[in-house]
Amino acid sequence: MYQTWEKLEKSIQNCQKCKLCKTRQNIVFGVGNKNAKIMFIGEGPGADEDRIGEPFVGRAGKLMNMGFELVGIKREEVYIANIVKCRPPGNRNPEEDEAYACMDYLRNQVILVKPKIIVLLGSVALKNILGKEYGITASRGKWVEKKGINYMPTWHPAALLRDETKKVDFIKDLLQVTKVQGL
Ligand code: URA
Repeated sequence: MYQTWEKLEKSIQNCQKCKLCKTRQNIVFGVGNKNAKIMFIGEGPGADEDRIGEPFVGRAGKLMNMGFELVGIKREEVYIANIVKCRPPGNRNPEEDEAYACMDYLRNQVILVKPKIIVLLGSVALKNILGKEYGITASRGKWVEKKGINYMPTWHPAALLRDETKKVDFIKDLLQVTKVQGL
């Protein structure tokens, strides 16, 4: 059973489906255009996102915004969410039970947004959405079509902070997205 935006946002308010609820400051639900053609899915909130309650507002987010500007994507026109809505302590990867517990919310968001394209930011998003058999190094930059949605896996913006050479790939992958006709 899928819920309306209103019910979904209400139902998540006191979420205690996993242990991340014990350490979070804010639930980071998602942000952007609820009718977006393009959706971005990251991993989980970091310290800044946890404090502010919005995805990708920290250093990685600023880099992502710069990428958006370079290729002509407007942040307010896309929808941005994460695999988990609460910050994993110390910025560790979300654990399997946490991602599983949170997946219904994300599934519901995808159903409501109805994006044509989903950009998967990094390995955690890729594996949780398309399957564990996918690896980010081999998959990035290559379209995967599943159930009417076109997925574009790319590097997580935080990876660009660690390795500058990945920036070119990231921009190339975003450009592929912007070149899709009929968006
Ligand atoms: N990294 C993510 O995966 N998501 C955010 O919202 C911020 C940083």
